[in-house]
Amino acid sequence: MRDLLGNVATRAARYLEDLDERSVTPAAEAIAGLAALGGPMPAGPTGPAEVLALLDRFGSPATVATAGRRYFGFVVGGSLPAALAANWLAGAWDQLAGFVVSSPVAAAVEEISLRWLLDVLALPADSGGAFVTGGTMANFSALAAARHAVLQQVGWDVESDGLIGAPPVTVVVGQEAHPSLFKALGLLGLGRRRVLTVPVDGQGRLRVDALPALCGPTIVCVQAGNVNTGAFDPIEEVCQVARQAGAWVHVDGAFGLWAAVSPQLAHLTTGVGKADSWATDAHKWLNVPYDSGLAFVRQPEHLRAAMSTAAAYLPQGAQREPAQYTPELSRRARGIEVWAALRSLGRSGLADLIERNCLYARLFAEGLHESGYEILNDVALNQVLVAFGDEQVTRRVIAAVQADGTCWAGVTVWQGRPAMRISVSSWATTENDICRSLAAIRRVAAEQGAKP
Ligand SMILES: Cc1ncc(COP(=O)(O)O)c(C=O)c1O
Repeated sequence: MRDLLGNVATRAARYLEDLDERSVTPAAEAIAGLAALGGPMPAGPTGPAEVLALLDRFGSPATVATAGRRYFGFVVGGSLPAALAANWLAGAWDQLAGFVVSSPVAAAVEEISLRWLLDVLALPADSGGAFVTGGTMANFSALAAARHAVLQQVGWDVESDGLIGAPPVTVVVGQEAHPSLFKALGLLGLGRRRVLTVPVDGQGRLRVDALPALCGPTIVCVQAGNVNTGAFDPIEEVCQVARQAGAWVHVDGAFGLWAAVSPQLAHLTTGVGKADSWATDAHKWLNVPYDSGLAFVRQPEHLRAAMSTAAAYLPQGAQREPAQYTPELSRRARGIEVWAALRSLGRSGLADLIERNCLYARLFAEGLHESGYEILNDVALNQVLVAFGDEQVTRRVIAAVQADGTCWAGVTVWQGRPAMRISVSSWATTENDICRSLAAIRRVAAEQGAKP
């Protein structure tokens, strides 16, 4: 075991060191080489060192360099050194994180992290929380608590009796809500299509003046950080309207919620603490390994009511049992990496990470604007949308930037216009990486005939 773990450490360190010089996208030959990992099911055993060597030889070259410094796709943050190291140690521990009795360390570290998270995110200190796989499941879990609470108010026990025959629940969302929110609503039986959709402004912010009249069991979903523009819904105003109607407010803050830690950016999150539930991702802006999402609920009993499982062999103690708050019963101890990231960064380190990323997004926008390309959003956070001309030219430039391999940014369509979507989300990115990436984008755009 010792030799094997030493071996993997050497290989992983070499992989990370090489990232800076290799193309962000893997070569076609590397992808074709993955066939070497297949073939028929092995008839007998293979030594672990050989298994590892195979994976490194054929797997490592076929990775996308999302752990590197110039990956600006989706909202990918890479892994902080302490979070990656903690992930390895937690892998060695192989804890069943659902119960205090099966993992005192996982349960304790979740509670500590939960307290720290509520503090840095400026959420009510006695909220409950769940450590789940990502933003989609965080939305799902928080909305399950919302569904429980709004139906309990009208005397309906949704966990026992389901939704068939239940009083109708009105769900209100902004037109630019993230698609995963609709998926979560669908999974909960609240329907992807039966929601009331509120028109938005040019940045994708829900318009409070266009909210429908709210009455009866109602859940209003707002967004902290639009995945394209980074814009925040007017959360404070929505909370005021919803509060008067007795509606539940849920905030999807998959990455935007982290702005609360920065004195420069916290104003964007004004009113967030007045909501009833929140979803965010640790694998986005806290830069821990996938898969790590966080759901928070102001009144923990609603989350517990939605998620708890009763069985004679399962602990139901007075202390916080992690599995009583999550969809999963058995799961890995993903709170360990969250703790390691928070412990290593501290409040100032986390604020610095968020602020640097936002500064680099502004540098991207300024550089591309100066080169004559059109920035489609107000760059208030870490997202930049840029068009290089008409639809065809823009799509051609994005494909060519991806093929060039200096950096990677994705394509989106923003309010009818195709655009390159740049998301700066990694602790490792430096100003030099922005300069290198800008130079590559300008060169490629010129080669593709984009006219400044
Ligand atoms: C606003 C928002 N909500 C939800 C999600 C879904 O998160 P995940 O991919 O972790 O499930 C994302 C992902 O980018 C997002 O930006």
